[in-house]
Amino acid sequence: MIRIAPSLLSADFARLADELDTVASADLLHLDVMDGHFVPNLTIGPAIVKALRARTKLPFDCHLMISDPQRYIDRFLDAGADMISIHIEAEPHLQRALQMIRDGGALAGIAINPATPAESLSTAIEFCDYVLAMTVNPGFGGQRFIEPVVPKIRHISRLIRERGLRVEIEVDGGVDAKTAPHVVAAGATILVAGSAVFGETNRADAIERIRSAVHTVSA
Ligand code: DX5
Ligand code: ZN
Repeated sequence: MIRIAPSLLSADFARLADELDTVASADLLHLDVMDGHFVPNLTIGPAIVKALRARTKLPFDCHLMISDPQRYIDRFLDAGADMISIHIEAEPHLQRALQMIRDGGALAGIAINPATPAESLSTAIEFCDYVLAMTVNPGFGGQRFIEPVVPKIRHISRLIRERGLRVEIEVDGGVDAKTAPHVVAAGATILVAGSAVFGETNRADAIERIRSAVHTVSA
């Protein structure tokens, strides 16, 4: 099953609760947490995540683009995160951090930048529930999809199959109805879309366009 996760980063921040209603037909809500250190932008923290939790039934997929993510895992668990991903480039004690997420009852994801090779997942992949493959350099919405990441997604997908793991692949950055079929064919099952959803007036139609674009695609 392919799941669509609109990224709140491209929503109107002055009307966040209303914006949630417009994406009720999605499967997950993707929340981008940035610290101005790991990435050159600042966004939301656990207080906003917690405030939004009561306003929608969608599961919360928190993408931590922050240095030393382990320090903040408890705060996001407490805020109501259902999935938490941390960057492999930001966490020296990855296995421990992933275990903290799982112990807190959430799914644990490893996020990986476009330039980080798939090989770096070789051990860590055994300890996660999903890999979040970035198809832009994290920090901003509306960037251009980096096409050479697609073979890397295929590589990760192969690794998962060969090891017989139950790990999903989520793709984030420049995903729209045009690029989505390529990442799904490469093995992705969770599609994050910021500007392709919140940049459109009719969000339900935008979500549906991505869904139907991948409807007949199989990995
Ligand atoms: C970028 C964020 C993305 C972002 C994607 O650093 O991780 O989730 O919102 O936005 P689009 O879909 O516009 O590339
Ligand atoms: Zn993201």
